[in-house]
Amino acid sequence: MLENLDKLKKEFANVYGDSEGVRVFFAPGRVNLIGEHTDYNGGHVFPCALDVGTYCLAKKREDRTLRFYSLNFTEKGIMEANLDEIVNKERDDWANYPKGVIDVFQKAGHKLSSGLDILYFGNIPNSAGLSSSASIELATAVMVNELFAFHKEMLDLVKLSQKAENEFVGVNCGILDQFACGMGKKDHAVLLDCHTLEYHYTPFQLEDYALVIANTNKSRGLTDSKYNERRAECERALKQLQKELDIQSFGDLTVDEFEAHKYLIENETERRRAKHAVSENARTLVAVDKLNAGDLAAFGKLMSASHLSLRDDYEVTGKELDTLVEAAWNEDALGARMTGAGFGGCTVNLVKKTHLDTFIQNVGASYQEATGLKADFYNVKIGDGAKELQ
Ligand code: GLA
Repeated sequence: MLENLDKLKKEFANVYGDSEGVRVFFAPGRVNLIGEHTDYNGGHVFPCALDVGTYCLAKKREDRTLRFYSLNFTEKGIMEANLDEIVNKERDDWANYPKGVIDVFQKAGHKLSSGLDILYFGNIPNSAGLSSSASIELATAVMVNELFAFHKEMLDLVKLSQKAENEFVGVNCGILDQFACGMGKKDHAVLLDCHTLEYHYTPFQLEDYALVIANTNKSRGLTDSKYNERRAECERALKQLQKELDIQSFGDLTVDEFEAHKYLIENETERRRAKHAVSENARTLVAVDKLNAGDLAAFGKLMSASHLSLRDDYEVTGKELDTLVEAAWNEDALGARMTGAGFGGCTVNLVKKTHLDTFIQNVGASYQEATGLKADFYNVKIGDGAKELQ
């Protein structure tokens, strides 16, 4: 169990020679319950942080060198950068995430006075769409903030981490992942208005039900280019609506307002992308109301409706995600949908606890029969956002 902090400290000493004075930080992965592809469309999202994530052990150095090492990618060895010249290098692979965070801190005027030795260990399944990259970013941001006493609030660390991903790594993501990893709260989901950044926590205790994540184990090869393509389609659709409507984003529109004006969007595909953005935002708000009213069944139905919209209007699912979700519906999941960017990655399911073993067995079997792939299942717990561990 590497999650054991003493063991992690020993690993730090093995890699860097000495663990005296090392401090330990953690940031979780996330799962989005509903509100998909709404963040960059000015809508709402409803994620929670997981109890798995990234551990980050760090210690200041005497010089200006940054050293990065991950127990998950030991073959890459120690990667180095200089505080005065941080550049994105392809061969630095995962280390570009923490390098990016340190770079945006410095560009925001928060200069680090010394280099660092840093060791990471993550227990989020790799490439599953559960935000392992945002988790590394937030663990790094909290670590830098604490070690150099920059006194930044968590929301600022969230924004800096998103900026690192957008500008240094070059992935044009919205704020969902970094927000959930930074601001998550144990046993709660958080409703975030991505336009105003107003947020509210909602207790998410499921009693007879389990929150189950199922991994398609389909590699998400084209995710970034398809993701950017969806963003561009939405931007074009919005521009056409803005000719007649005084709106800043799709988050400003009700479903009825959209229906009355959708004729303004000439291209049929772009019209469907916009329809998803508007309807998913509305669904998310209703879903959270239902949850607050204790109606988990209605919440589950809206999760499933979200999947259909992502499948038919936004077209970001694909055979593996659809098969895994349909198998879950056939096994009486209260709700099941893809989560994250799509094109592979994971589904999120609400499953009766007494039915859990049968669910995993049957869904796994029909998924394997249809796709030849073996799915993994995780019965997850909702954890806290990024923090220093004692
Ligand atoms: C990825 C992005 C997020 C968000 C989701 C889709 O996870 O990083 O910003 O857009 O896809 O909801």
